[in-house]
Amino acid sequence: MGFPKGFLWGGATAAAQFEGGWRSGGKGESLQDHVTGCAPGGKRLFNAVIHPDTYYPSHDAVDHASHIEEDLALLAEMGCTCYRMSISWSRIFPHGDDDYPNEEGLRFYDHIFQTCERYKMEPVVTINHFDMPWELVRRYGGFLNREVIDLYLRYARVLFERYRGRVRKWLPFNEINFGVLPMGAFKAEGLVPPALREVDQWTPVDELGIPLRDRIQALHHQLVASALTVQIAHDIDPLNQVGCMIGYITKYPLTCSPEDMLACQHDDRFMNRLCSDVLVKGAYPAFALAWFEREGIAPVEKFGDDEVLRENAVDFYAFSYYMSNCATAKTEVERVDGNLLGGARNPYLSASEWGWQVDPDGLRYTINELQDRYSIPMMVVENGLGAPDVVEDDGSIHDAYRIDYLRSHIKAMRDAVDDGANVIGYTAWSPIDSVSSSTGQMSKRYGMVYVDRDDGGSGSGKRSKKDSFAWYQKVIASNGDDLG
Ligand code: BG6
Repeated sequence: MGFPKGFLWGGATAAAQFEGGWRSGGKGESLQDHVTGCAPGGKRLFNAVIHPDTYYPSHDAVDHASHIEEDLALLAEMGCTCYRMSISWSRIFPHGDDDYPNEEGLRFYDHIFQTCERYKMEPVVTINHFDMPWELVRRYGGFLNREVIDLYLRYARVLFERYRGRVRKWLPFNEINFGVLPMGAFKAEGLVPPALREVDQWTPVDELGIPLRDRIQALHHQLVASALTVQIAHDIDPLNQVGCMIGYITKYPLTCSPEDMLACQHDDRFMNRLCSDVLVKGAYPAFALAWFEREGIAPVEKFGDDEVLRENAVDFYAFSYYMSNCATAKTEVERVDGNLLGGARNPYLSASEWGWQVDPDGLRYTINELQDRYSIPMMVVENGLGAPDVVEDDGSIHDAYRIDYLRSHIKAMRDAVDDGANVIGYTAWSPIDSVSSSTGQMSKRYGMVYVDRDDGGSGSGKRSKKDSFAWYQKVIASNGDDLG
């Protein structure tokens, strides 16, 4: 069988990790502009005050802003039929609550979408990828403040009107489920405690001490904003399709003990199912309501929120998949890292240099689970291996490890399609090297195109093809039949 005709193949990027040009084209300061690369000991730090002598990865990122033509030409040469990217909110509304959108910012994305059109690559646009105008954090307190829903919707409406007919697939929030985690509360929901919003103080981004109650309240606001985005997108153009975007961390019980089974079900529900149940099925699942009540953390809802959630289900289910890990009732077990959330080590799996366990079968398992649970079209919008690359003397980059990773995952996705799953597309993270979200490093590379830039921000920015470039080109040309 294999992939259906018209299956979308591409790559995914995010503005704060890719664009750079943090002060060009009228862009305002954003939350990510306040975050350093990895400090010694491995933590990214936040400070309300920007220090001119400190390196901030988002400021220049990999300078896509001045390489738009070149980067998109590379994706087109690869054969991509779609391109997932995010819009920087502070490029459109520099302070988040400005009276008018920034025309130069809108033109920046006109350029990208016109170029995509020229190459026949369908854009898949994330409206908010782990970033927001800094002023919305400083003066409003991020998504904890209900007023930010309206500011977000105004921003989304501007995008739907401006890019009508050019963009049809939209993702309101990247990995919306990560908002419930301490680091996600900062990146995804823009939560910074009031005492840290003005002072010159360095704090690790995952140690900002955001109470669980606030995280849940902010998440509720994002869920409502996401549902209203579906409504507005459909009103403006019935051809618009809106998806949820879930950071999926597949969970296995560490052992077959009933206690581990229950621990696994618990972690899976809270990590993977809570938000998507709301966005796909239109209501909080019973386990979430019981948890809210037990912990006294039920979000304050406005009259009508239930209806908004019920009536605006998403059109498709998009998710990122990098790894799986294990859940257990025991506390004394070996642990592994993961994107924002680690878990118990699975003795059957190997891990990347950054400790992310590699599990292609987990992708097949996950897609099949999602097919049974939601039965709506699915898209894998992030998947890839973060690894350091070596540039040989002749300039070549032999990244067989990346090819192995991608091959095994695409094969697993094809097996899931053969199992009957409705998967409509795949965008690898990230086709061109970009800054790592968790560490701020450049050396944690995902690209099939290498960017000459190091962890301190030095380098020419030159793009060169790795071995994986030609390999992915063949995969796309054969619609996933030839995996090399
Ligand atoms: C996802 C994010 O969690 O993982 C991306 O949506 C991120 O923004 C990707 O880059 C890979 O994570 P990292 O930390 O290795 O860049």
